Amino acid sequence: MGWTTGPTTMKRLIAIATAVLLVVATRDVPAQQAEHGVPELATGVCSACHGPQGHSISPVFPNLAGQQAGYIVLQLNAFRAHERGDPNARAYMWGMASQLSDATIKSLADYYAAQKPAPGESGDRALIAEGAKIYNQGVEANGVPACAACHGSDAQGKGAFPRLGGQHAEYLIAQLEGFQSGTRANAPIMDNVAHSMTHEQIRAAAAYAASR
Ligand code: HEC
Ligand code: HEC
Repeated sequence: MGWTTGPTTMKRLIAIATAVLLVVATRDVPAQQAEHGVPELATGVCSACHGPQGHSISPVFPNLAGQQAGYIVLQLNAFRAHERGDPNARAYMWGMASQLSDATIKSLADYYAAQKPAPGESGDRALIAEGAKIYNQGVEANGVPACAACHGSDAQGKGAFPRLGGQHAEYLIAQLEGFQSGTRANAPIMDNVAHSMTHEQIRAAAAYAASR
């Protein structure tokens, strides 16, 4: 197919493509559900808090869309083992994760990782600019490392390193405070990163990461 394709052929191709897409869309969902019942669980249970396709509207509930599958598996295991123990983890996720098998956890992780991430959150421009510096270069004065080294140049994350881009800034702040105070104590790397950060640096780094 090139630029010479006439308008009638084009219309026909679009009609065929649409028909194929419809068939694929309606066939794929039940096939996946039959495997582990996962999209049903995601749409019927997890979505109550994490939103449709993992796009949540409240910063209490993290976005899961586009989150790294490896990281999701680790967190669901940590909730299930009662290792991630900050108050909201205990209140909301311990019970939830206790119901999940390893296979279901893996499928849920793959499902959410495949969803389109939330667009960057807007915020205070000056704060975001200050956060960009911390994110990319760290702060030598109080030993804060560059976040980009682990969370990626665009906050997209990788494997066990979570995506921070498009996450609610308020959620990111709450987590950084949890690492700092020791309520989210099962993450030695982040406890170490956060322990020397000032409140202002936490707010700035979170605002920048959320804006990606
Ligand atoms: C009743 C509300 C609720 C439901 C239902 C729920 N969650 Fe959560 N989930 C939360 C809250 C709140 C947090 C944040 C906990 C914290 O702040 O430590 C969370 C955190 C998570 C995290 C960690 C995300 C991150 O960025 O660290 C994952 C993964 C997760 N939930 C997966 C699921 C899955 C999968 C389901 C469905 C089986 C589910 N949740 C159902 C409330 C809920
Ligand atoms: C040496 C690697 C490393 C560096 C540097 C690093 N992180 Fe992390 N970060 C991690 C890992 C690993 C986790 C997952 C912790 C866990 O398993 O619970 C994480 C988790 C987080 C979370 C929790 C995300 C969620 O969805 O709950 C936030 C927020 C965060 N990091 C922010 C930052 C910020 C801001 C910086 C820079 C000031 C930074 N990190 C630097 C490795 C790193």
